[in-house]
Amino acid sequence: MLIFKKSQDISDYLNKSRAKGQSIGFVPTMGALHDGHISLINRSLSQSNLTVCSVFVNPTQFNDPKDFEKYPVTIEKDILLLERAKCDILFLPPVEEIYPKDWKSPSHFDLGELEKVLEGKYRPGHFQGVCQVVQRLLQIVNPTTIYLGQKDIQQCMVIKRLIELGKLPVKIDICPTMRDSDGLAMSSRNQRLNADERAIAPALFEALSFIKENIKSGPTNHILYDAQIMLSQKGFKVDYIAIASAKDLQLIDDWNGKDQLVALVAAFLHQVRLIDNMLLN
Ligand code: PAF
Repeated sequence: MLIFKKSQDISDYLNKSRAKGQSIGFVPTMGALHDGHISLINRSLSQSNLTVCSVFVNPTQFNDPKDFEKYPVTIEKDILLLERAKCDILFLPPVEEIYPKDWKSPSHFDLGELEKVLEGKYRPGHFQGVCQVVQRLLQIVNPTTIYLGQKDIQQCMVIKRLIELGKLPVKIDICPTMRDSDGLAMSSRNQRLNADERAIAPALFEALSFIKENIKSGPTNHILYDAQIMLSQKGFKVDYIAIASAKDLQLIDDWNGKDQLVALVAAFLHQVRLIDNMLLN
């Protein structure tokens, strides 16, 4: 696996590959890799001539500085996992390669309602930071396809919008959430859970499954209330548990029995904030 640390070097290399007609699959990450990331790498490997993974913990997307400080960093293990997966290229830039002094990002990305609900509401500024870094990474890598995990469904929609706003020539492939055998969605943040917390964490999956099994047309507040109680009883502090349109994440209080729905949850287990979602119909 080739490892690049400088933006100009990886851009030059990929420009030559592109000129030879090679397709480039791109998996952006913040490291602390797990099988969910590796499933994205595998998808890219099966569809692209070259697969690029980036590992960069982007400071501008952390609305809470403590969350940034505590974000797990496991770069040696990440390199081993990527080599084992046969990833072609790792981009591992220092911060000044992503945000050089002369680089100008738009001061605001117009994300509309997407930025006002759910993660957008609870993590103000987070999606502006995501857009900033993804725009820059896309500029450097200029991939044919970007591979993203459905676990961050709102982020997937935000990046789709970023690509539309910039009319960027890149396809998006949204890949299914990978789960441990007890249902817990794979996440870098799971590494911060202690053994007791890890045993409780699958309650998020259970709450979403409860909604999926019991959803009926009409008001959604009763089922959400019951799901929230399930989580509170296990010791979660719930930021939100919601049912929304799977098309645009508009919250649904009263379901017409037809629209495609997704249930979404974000909750703290002591210091660790976890998110998950599930398509309902
Ligand atoms: O999902 C992530 O790991 C990050 O938000 C991303 C897309 C790599 C941007 O920093």
